[in-house]
Amino acid sequence: MEIKVITGDIAQIEADAIVVNLFEDMTQPGGATAAVDNSLDGAISSLIRRGEIKGKFGEVNIVHTLGKPRQVSAEMVAIVGLGKSQDFNTDKIRGVAGEFCRALRKLNYHKIATILHGAGTGGIELEASAQAITEGALLGLYSFNKYKKPEYEDIKEMLIVVREADKIPILEEAIHKGIVVAEATNLARNMINEPANYMTPSQLAKAAEEIANKYNLEFRVFDSADMEAMGMGALLGVAKGSNQPPKLITLSYKGDEHSDKAFGFLGKGITFDSGGISIKPSEGMAEMKDDMAGAAAVMTALVAIAQLKPRINVTAIIPATENLPSGTALKPGDILKAMNGKTIEVINTDAEGRLILADALSYAQKIGLSSLIDLATLTGACCVALGTLYSGIFSNNQDLADKVLKASDRIGERMWQMPMPEEYKEQLKSEMADVKNTGHKYGGAITAALFLAEFVDNTPWVHIDIAGTADSNKESGYIVKGATGVGVRTLVELALSEAKSREIL
Ligand code: BES
Ligand code: MN
Ligand code: ZN
Repeated sequence: MEIKVITGDIAQIEADAIVVNLFEDMTQPGGATAAVDNSLDGAISSLIRRGEIKGKFGEVNIVHTLGKPRQVSAEMVAIVGLGKSQDFNTDKIRGVAGEFCRALRKLNYHKIATILHGAGTGGIELEASAQAITEGALLGLYSFNKYKKPEYEDIKEMLIVVREADKIPILEEAIHKGIVVAEATNLARNMINEPANYMTPSQLAKAAEEIANKYNLEFRVFDSADMEAMGMGALLGVAKGSNQPPKLITLSYKGDEHSDKAFGFLGKGITFDSGGISIKPSEGMAEMKDDMAGAAAVMTALVAIAQLKPRINVTAIIPATENLPSGTALKPGDILKAMNGKTIEVINTDAEGRLILADALSYAQKIGLSSLIDLATLTGACCVALGTLYSGIFSNNQDLADKVLKASDRIGERMWQMPMPEEYKEQLKSEMADVKNTGHKYGGAITAALFLAEFVDNTPWVHIDIAGTADSNKESGYIVKGATGVGVRTLVELALSEAKSREIL
């Protein structure tokens, strides 16, 4: 879909459908909606009075003009509900854009035009609204079509109609940013939605190499012999059960040659998690193809960053392997030695994400990255604690955690910080090794984070558990069924805001 900003009067725009809006607590349409209502001889306000149009968040009502009152050029006017005005924010704009785009696609409209939602009464800045509409539209219209024909035809064109001609350049820039971020997120979704028989560790490495070539990033891949040489016994231990060779993949973006500081974005890349010898029940196991959602998010965050070019440095690190049972697989009771020299007693082979991340974290520190953020579908316990709306954040550095939380808040990915109490470390004590890989059932997301902390020295580090948020089983707003691409927008926003704050200093 092509997205353009133009100046004009929305009522006069040649399009199949135009989109205006209504807050739930308003009895009268405002702004551009009021103008369109006038052109329709009060059709919208009469439907509001009759209680047919309520303004409920994401609800789309359609008024067919059939071209009759020629004051409105489009044959159809869609009124999208913005919800209660006190709950309104930019993320709500993303949501309504996803909803009205899907509704209009279903009706087979190819060219649509919309006003800038929330920019008037909603009090949102014009460019923030334009970016959010762009993101919401592209994310909400996403579908994974590689193995099945799409249900609906695409909307070909969306016009964002504004009155202020002088605002066009900054709005074009905002739309461009929205496109870059949404397309990166959809690329992550594509990678995650791929089945595990396609998206193997080798395929993940190939995807990274293609990204590197296309966006001029530095790419490296290490195979098991390299891992052996570097002492990555934890990653190799998980990989032992599979015939697919493991890969450690890195992608680097250098936006600031003068700085020796660099972010490390680490992503769990388990391309299929059967649990290994501690095998999972078969019910729901198919979902474990998503266990590389962290890997996809960090890779595609770099795709967006490479295009938006903030003045910072970032390296993505992806430990990638399958976790399968076999005659050569890791067994409960086995002891592994990680790259930092610590020995790990494996109590449960299904707690594999923390094993591969242990080596990835050690590697990130060895190559001198100065702030680390890992994204991992790490624990079912995190879903139990926070449900499917919030990712869990854990950190050894409150400044970095606050930066991540603020970035996530600005772009509407909900995250909640979890504690890391010293006392729970007791649970990871082993009779046989420096540490064991699981604790009690209760607080499992926390003990997983405490395990990771064993492999981080003084480097500021944030761990984001996305087990509950990486995929969705329902369609809502800009979220569709399947992979969500969670994390991409937060990482990109963090990179951009970090570059901005350094410019100010
Ligand atoms: N990949 C899973 C976590 C997961 C669960 C992700 C549900 C998405 C949805 C992880 O490797 C795992 O199996 N964790 C175990 C840890 C346990 C053995 C300590 C879990 O959560 O059950
Ligand atoms: Mn597992
Ligand atoms: Zn896993």
